[in-house]
Amino acid sequence: MRRTLRFILGEELIEIAACDPTLTVLDWLRLERRLTGSKEGCAEGDCGACTVVVGRLDRGRLRYEAINACIRFLPTLEGCHLLTVEHLKAADGGLHPVQQALVTHHGSQCGFCTPGIVMSLFALWLNEAAPDVARIEDALAGNLCRCTGYQPIIAAALALYRGGRPQERLAQAEAAIAARLAELADGETLVLGEAGRSFHAPVTQAALAELVMQHPDAILVAGATDVGLWVTKGMQIPPAILYLGRCEEMRSIVDTGDTLRFGAMANHGDVRAALAALSPQLDELMRRFGGEQVRNAGTIGGNIANGSPIGDLPPALIALGARLLLRSGTGLREIALEDFFLDYRKQDRRKGEFVSEIIVPKPPADALFHVSKISKRFDEDISALCAAFFLRIDAEGRILEARLAYGGMAGIPKRAAAAEAALRGRVWDEAAVDAAIARLPADFTPLSDMRASAGYRLTVAGNLLRRFLIETREPATATRVAGLLVEAAHG
Ligand SMILES: Cc1cc2nc3c(=O)[nH]c(=O)nc-3n(C[C@H](O)[C@H](O)[C@H](O)COP(=O)(O)OP(=O)(O)OC[C@H]3O[C@@H](n4cnc5c(N)ncnc54)[C@H](O)[C@@H]3O)c2cc1C
Ligand code: FES
Ligand code: FES
Repeated sequence: MRRTLRFILGEELIEIAACDPTLTVLDWLRLERRLTGSKEGCAEGDCGACTVVVGRLDRGRLRYEAINACIRFLPTLEGCHLLTVEHLKAADGGLHPVQQALVTHHGSQCGFCTPGIVMSLFALWLNEAAPDVARIEDALAGNLCRCTGYQPIIAAALALYRGGRPQERLAQAEAAIAARLAELADGETLVLGEAGRSFHAPVTQAALAELVMQHPDAILVAGATDVGLWVTKGMQIPPAILYLGRCEEMRSIVDTGDTLRFGAMANHGDVRAALAALSPQLDELMRRFGGEQVRNAGTIGGNIANGSPIGDLPPALIALGARLLLRSGTGLREIALEDFFLDYRKQDRRKGEFVSEIIVPKPPADALFHVSKISKRFDEDISALCAAFFLRIDAEGRILEARLAYGGMAGIPKRAAAAEAALRGRVWDEAAVDAAIARLPADFTPLSDMRASAGYRLTVAGNLLRRFLIETREPATATRVAGLLVEAAHG
């Protein structure tokens, strides 16, 4: 057990013995270190003004990711390398190429968003050699700029990659940083506390399991993209935190041939890459999951355990027939994902248990699958509703198996049992879709809220099923319709 938090800021080793467990990285940087380059715009992970880059050892290799400092708790940086806009310099000590490109292409006006945009582009620059416009837009979807407009920013980003990448200070220093982080990785559980509050960060799943048994009421923190907002917006002060992020084994993604097994700590970027192989629509769903900073921090386990009725992954995973492995001590309990959600914000997670793995069966070659996210904004928006459909059809064209899963239609992510029953045994055609749509009001009494009215939700839930039929019948038409929808969403 170690009682000192250790990480590297730029080139400086930071050691902190006592610390508020929910002090955000942004507040620490700005208020305690007076590094005020990173800005606070929203304090909820939406605007990207606070973007910093965090490096961590991932299976022995240094991996840098952009994250939102406003919702990340400082002690979760244990064993990491933190870089802010203040640390960027070119090899000759001048502006970093990302900063210079923004200057040259007039990519900054009032400048409030600029440090965040610099750090998002810097993370992209570190990780990718030749991103195209779509990839650059994707990397910037979590950075809001109110005044410059994105055209010059994207022009600056594209210019960075013309003529190859010049050598730069950090790229040269990576091996030395990796060696320093490896030295910090002593395998000890980190324990911090202040004023009756505690923070534990174990390194193995077995140690985590013991701690969860000892502290059954502690808040588990994975990527903190939900929990961070409880603190910054909900003003909650959790007395005890168990942090999962150092349990590297819980980040694994294993392809067993007929299933994908996700460790609960697999982040959304890695989950996206694995799910993309199952369906391009899953790839698109995950591309629209938060912004890049949220996908780097947020995890599959957190999205499920949070139990939100509008979480994006549960409907897709329920339709695919996913199962959960819940761990308690050395014991494991396996349940169908759909049975995990009991009632609004109430899940089948017993005291002392945590989500260990998510097992996703790969759809068989003859299966039909569809997933759609409907939100007011195309990028970085929470769903008004989300629908995922899985069908198997026999040689006569009759529906053998149907799973229709919806988010945003009830207090939990839920299957449409009555609509599924209306489909089973019928030919997959307009009449079957009409029959299923007619049963949707028996399955759901959706709410009206700021995202959508009840009537809109029910109508769209049916329309998406009809769109699924069009896609399966006439893939070319469906692609064109989807293309028009994307264009409309981009305005
Ligand atoms: C700007 C922004 C955009 C977002 N966009 C989307 C979006 O498009 N779609 C969407 O679905 N969500 C979105 N979210 C919500 C959030 O990112 C996801 O729900 C994310 O998957 C949560 O994962 P996490 O690792 O950050 O969880 P955390 O915040 O760490 O934890 C969430 C909950 O799960 C519990 N928990 C975490 N891991 C475990 C475990 N292994 N076992 C048991 N309990 C556990 C925690 O105790 C907590 O109750 C967004 C959030 C933000 C801030
Ligand atoms: S301040 Fe807006 S994302 Fe952090
Ligand atoms: S330059 Fe003003 S918000 Fe982007």
